[in-house]
Amino acid sequence: MLSERTIQIIKSTVPVLEKHGIHITKRFYQLLFTAHPELLNMFNHANQSQERQQAALANVVYAAAQHIDKLETLLPAVKQIAHKHRSLGVKAEHYPIVGEHLLLAIKDVLGEAATEEILQAWAEAYGVIAKVFIEAEAEMYQQSEQQQGGWTGFRGFRVENKVKESDVITSFYLVPQDRGALPSFEPGQYVSVKMEIPGEANTHIRQYSLSDAPGKPYYRISAKREDAIGGKPEGKVSVYLHDQINPGDILWLSTPAGEFTLDQQDSKPVVFISGGVGLTPLVSMLNTIVDNRPDRPVTFIHAARNGNAHAFKQQVEEVANRSPQVSVYWCYAKPTDQDREINAYDREGYIDLPWLQKVIPTKEATFYFCGPVPFMKTVYGFLKEWDVAEAHIHYEFFGPSGSLENP
Ligand code: HEM
Repeated sequence: MLSERTIQIIKSTVPVLEKHGIHITKRFYQLLFTAHPELLNMFNHANQSQERQQAALANVVYAAAQHIDKLETLLPAVKQIAHKHRSLGVKAEHYPIVGEHLLLAIKDVLGEAATEEILQAWAEAYGVIAKVFIEAEAEMYQQSEQQQGGWTGFRGFRVENKVKESDVITSFYLVPQDRGALPSFEPGQYVSVKMEIPGEANTHIRQYSLSDAPGKPYYRISAKREDAIGGKPEGKVSVYLHDQINPGDILWLSTPAGEFTLDQQDSKPVVFISGGVGLTPLVSMLNTIVDNRPDRPVTFIHAARNGNAHAFKQQVEEVANRSPQVSVYWCYAKPTDQDREINAYDREGYIDLPWLQKVIPTKEATFYFCGPVPFMKTVYGFLKEWDVAEAHIHYEFFGPSGSLENP
């Protein structure tokens, strides 16, 4: 239990730390990786260089500090992060290391303003916040190890098949190298893939949604190739996957994780809205529903640049053809001449609210959406404008989470 005095110090210093947030977390990562270079094997270097991770960590620490006397209100956010930590292999023993370097960074950046009393208060508060994460993660480790076919750490999977789904998206069908059982998962969950790339000093870990329904003899991931664009460097892992990983090769996976999952008890109509590679978890959900819930109406809306960038088109259309419950709509931002010739899409340009209202039979549905952040902000804005209940809206960010409410 923190004393009243400690809580008061924490709350009064949050605005100061927020002001210096990015400096503190940047300094924190410098100090952390200098003292513990082995942790570079766990963190996503691309997120680091784009400062996305710094912002994510800083935001959560300050939000937690602000609510230090009622941390239970943060539990949903904690669970989502804990899933990610568990899938990456973050352990209880890592927390004191992070805490120590976070305090050193606060001290460095604030200088004399960081009195002993303030640092002591933050050390205590960090301990309380860390405990919440450690407990949530311990439970998740236990669950993933105990489930049938579950495992600890990273397990070798052989690539059985590699299928090009579009110009930029390729699927990998993965079976356990040890031929052991494959645990089920919740449609919408992802796996972490740990990869050693020749010439790279550290291993890389990335998350990929499982893109097929559970219950198959394989896990399928579908990765978008991230080529260099503008000032943004290419995605090392996705390019390596696309160019170098072939049938027979081994990928290392931790057990499925994530909270963005299909509620299979829900009987309301369901609407899936995806942009680009954001369709992968939604295809898994779609395939699950048509297998298990033929009574549940589904509207599947996908926005792509054009037919060349459109993954799973044929598969989803086949599902819709054999399942009268499913309606599909394709929205192409810039259709090609060939798209026009074969009438490959339902809408040209971007999604807007009047169009959504036309194709979605009822707003009393459950909505799942996923895609690039600007797309998600737009869709979220439309659903709010339409007065869709917040409890019926579910979404997932690819990469570090952010907020859709403060564009
Ligand atoms: C990711 C917060 C402790 C390693 C994250 C994210 C947040 C976060 C908000 C982003 C989640 C997302 O992408 O949705 C925290 C907080 C901590 C903590 C508040 C302490 C109370 C740790 C520890 C480690 C760790 C002890 C291990 C050394 C990571 C890694 C990622 C991550 C590797 C993924 C980052 C990436 O993609 O580069 N954490 N974390 N975290 N965390 Fe933590």
